[in-house]
Amino acid sequence: MARDQVHYFGAGPALLPSEVIEQAASDFVCYKDNGIGLGEISHRSGDATAVINDAKSKIIKLLEIPDTHEVFFGQGGGSGGFAAVVMNLSAAYAARTHKKGKVDYFVTGSWSSKAANEAKRLGLEVNLVLDPKLVPRGGKKFGAIPPKSTWKFSDPKETAYVYYCDNETVDGVEFQTIPDVPEGVELVADMSSNFLSKQIDVSRFGLIFGGAQKNIGIAGVSLYIIKKSLLTSLPPAELIQLGIPVVPTFLDFQEIVKNNSAYNTVSIFAVRVVELNMDYLLAKGGLKVQEAQSDRKAEKLYEAIDKYPQLFKSPVEKDCRSRMNIVFNIVGDGAEEQFVKQASAKGLTGIKGHRSVGGIRISNCKYKSARPIAKL
Ligand SMILES: Cc1ncc(COP(=O)(O)O)c(C=O)c1O
Repeated sequence: MARDQVHYFGAGPALLPSEVIEQAASDFVCYKDNGIGLGEISHRSGDATAVINDAKSKIIKLLEIPDTHEVFFGQGGGSGGFAAVVMNLSAAYAARTHKKGKVDYFVTGSWSSKAANEAKRLGLEVNLVLDPKLVPRGGKKFGAIPPKSTWKFSDPKETAYVYYCDNETVDGVEFQTIPDVPEGVELVADMSSNFLSKQIDVSRFGLIFGGAQKNIGIAGVSLYIIKKSLLTSLPPAELIQLGIPVVPTFLDFQEIVKNNSAYNTVSIFAVRVVELNMDYLLAKGGLKVQEAQSDRKAEKLYEAIDKYPQLFKSPVEKDCRSRMNIVFNIVGDGAEEQFVKQASAKGLTGIKGHRSVGGIRISNCKYKSARPIAKL
């Protein structure tokens, strides 16, 4: 089996480095000469535990994660994280205060909007730190991050956490710096689509999470980095009394950490792909190199978009343009369809905008132009 050089710009699942695919394919068939592959061994076997531990320690090294934080693999993708965050962090706040906290959400695009809706659905009082409806955007729903002076936080003493999406994959909106939040309030970030694309100061976060399928690996696992002090809760009966939803055991962060990410059957193959990706990124020089590369690729694209305003329109304000998902429109009836067709003829695929917003979206995955794979 072989494959040609690929130029695929989908947002995720996204391309993997060819080296990772080759090794993963081999490990799927037979891992370490023990006769069976990684899709077939027990998630509690010695080999599986070693895969989990190695993947974790490489993530810690790559992201320079301090001792104050714990790394674990979860299930349920990014959307599972929306719910897990609400239940686990509300319980952690209640363990500290014996109160049901409010939750603050920055809504800057489709994914943070979904996350805020999930918190409402689970019965939390959700305050929108910035409300996109109040930002005039010429009919567009998203595409701006209003200035700090307009942000409205809840009383810090009553806030379980502040949530934001670092990069809005659909709308092409990215925070250029970590948002400042009131002192003492835990900051939660969804980094599903820009994890590992830049250096981050993990110590500023209570929790960072994301599905693996965009930058970290393949679908089937999600990555969580949590401040250890947040691994706490109250007994279910007390949570119920406070009106806090009780987290299902398989989404309970304490339970997952206690069981080294294998409370229930985790996909060891998916974790191994993460590990291989970490090897690749470490060998390539780490996140400094990734950051410079992502910046350079995004700059080139935005330069072209801005150079031809009669042809291309960017729906995103310059101060919050995503480096990972470059979205734009092309002027003229049927011009976008033509563009997609012509690009495809040149072997450039996966550039159609998200179905909810249309237009063009070029996702700046770090593994563009993965080299051909001669033989598996
Ligand atoms: C930023 C962000 N958060 C969350 C999600 C949801 O991820 P999943 O499909 O794994 O639930 C996505 C998916 O594209 C995303 O881009």
